[in-house]
Amino acid sequence: MPELTWDQSKSIGFESIDEQHKKIFSIFNALCLALETNQEWPAVKKAVDDLLQYAGTHFRDEERIMRDYGYPDERKHTREHELFINKLGQFEFGKMLNDPGLANEIFMFLADWIVEHTSTEDVCLGVFIQKKLAEK
Ligand SMILES: [Fe+2]
Ligand SMILES: [Fe+2]
Repeated sequence: MPELTWDQSKSIGFESIDEQHKKIFSIFNALCLALETNQEWPAVKKAVDDLLQYAGTHFRDEERIMRDYGYPDERKHTREHELFINKLGQFEFGKMLNDPGLANEIFMFLADWIVEHTSTEDVCLGVFIQKKLAEK
């Protein structure tokens, strides 16, 4: 199972979002650990729910920040968040315990998306905010 490690190279240059990204990484790792250590479904389900819930909170915060700063790519970025949440809604997490192939597919998707999104869309947002703050 992949493990996500946050380091300074993943900073988007905006502290409150960086802190939330660190938390997403650690929730994702907790979910991996729950599966790897063969925990029962309630424990795995709790980790899945934590990830879904925290991702929702984080996306709302980012979208509010985008509006506050008048970010021009707000709609495109928000759409990426929506597609991710929709995709998660399609996964049958409950079947992961008995289907290692499915578990692997889900985890690779999650890890890839989280790393890709934070290092592209979120970095663009961070650069924009830094520019705005520098203008003040
Ligand atoms: Fe983000
Ligand atoms: Fe984002």
